[in-house]
Amino acid sequence: MLILGIESSCDETGAAIIEGTSKSERVKLLSNALATSLSLHSETGGIIPENAAREQVKYIIPVIKKALSEANIRPSEIDAVAVTYGPGLIGSLLVGVETAKALSFTWNKPLIPTNHLYGHIYANFIQDSNLESIEFPAIGLIVSGGHTDLVLIKKHKELKWLGGTRDDAAGEAMDKIGRLLDLPYPGGPHIEKLAQKGNHERFKFPSPLIGSPDYDFSFSGLKTAVFREVQKLEKIDDQTKADICASVQQAILDVIVKKTIKAVKENNAKSILLGGGVAANSKLREEINKDISSNKLNTKLFAPSKILCTDNGAMIAAAAFYNDQNISWEQVDANPGLYFD
Ligand code: KG4
Ligand code: ZN
Repeated sequence: MLILGIESSCDETGAAIIEGTSKSERVKLLSNALATSLSLHSETGGIIPENAAREQVKYIIPVIKKALSEANIRPSEIDAVAVTYGPGLIGSLLVGVETAKALSFTWNKPLIPTNHLYGHIYANFIQDSNLESIEFPAIGLIVSGGHTDLVLIKKHKELKWLGGTRDDAAGEAMDKIGRLLDLPYPGGPHIEKLAQKGNHERFKFPSPLIGSPDYDFSFSGLKTAVFREVQKLEKIDDQTKADICASVQQAILDVIVKKTIKAVKENNAKSILLGGGVAANSKLREEINKDISSNKLNTKLFAPSKILCTDNGAMIAAAAFYNDQNISWEQVDANPGLYFD
C-alpha cells in the first residue's frame, strides 16, 4: 500500500510517500519532502499563525510534487492520501486538509484524516537502523512544542490517554525560556547544546507535579522561576547561561522521565515510543535508558531519527497505514482542538 502523507499543522509543510506491506512490520519511507518557515519565525521570535499559513500556501504543491518525484511514483499509483486534520493552527491545518481533499477528489483516492499526535508516535514505525520489533503494550511519550502527553497503546487502533500538560508543553517552555535567555528560536535545541557545558545543580528550578499520583505535567511555573532568576542576576555570562540551560533541562527531564517510567511499570509496557520535537533531545533518551536499567525493566526505548521527531509528512502516512479508517473526503474537516479520542 502506497500512502501520500501531508502535514501542515504548525510551521512545517511536509509531504512523504510510505510503503506499507504488513501491520506487523515497519513501513518503508520512499520520500520525505519538507519546507520550513523557521527562519521567518526566528525573526519574530515565535510563530505568527497567519504568516505560517501564508507560507504553507506557497509550499504545499511544490512539496507534494517533490515527494512524488523523489519516490518516483505517479499519482495513479498512490493507494490513499493521509492528512493531519488536527490538532494545530486552523489556518495551517486548512492548507493541508483542503489540498488533500482536492487531491482525493481529483485522483479518486481514499482520504485518511490523521491525528497529528498519533503521527508523532507512529514515526517509530518507519523503518530505520533500529531493527528490533516494537512490542505492545507500549507507552507513548509525545513531547513537542504544543504537547506533552503520555499514552498507553495496547495495540494498533487501541490507544488510551494517560495524562498530559495542564499548561505549557515541554517544548513551549524551552522556547519561552530560550527567549528569556536571548537564544534563537526555537530554544529547545539551543538549550540542549548549551546544557552540555553547564552545571545542572547550580540553579534549583521546580519540576512541578513530580510527586503527583497522576500523569499530568505543568511547565508554566518553571518559566516564571527562570524569569525571576534572570531578573536577580546582574549580568549573565556564558557559563551562567549554560548553567541555567542545564538546570532547566534537568527540571523538565526529571518529571518527564519519572512519569514515563511510572507508566511503564503500572502497565507492564514492553516498549516506550518517543515522539515530537523534544524527543530529539539526546539527554532525554539517555536518562530514560538509565532508568530502564536501574529499575531492571523489561522494556525497550524507541525514538525516531531526529528528522522524524519534528513535524513531517512521513509520520502522518505511517499513522494512517496502521489506523486506517474509511471516510469520504466530504466528511473531513480541519479540527484545531482535536485531542485523543
Ligand atoms: O514536534 P515539533 O516539531 O512541533 C510541534 O508539533 O510542536 O516540536 C517542536 C519543539 C520546539 O519546542 C523545539 O524547541 C523542540 O521541539 N525541540 C527540542 C529539541 N529539538 C527540538 N527540545 C529539546 N531538545 C532538542 N534537541
Ligand atoms: Zn508536532
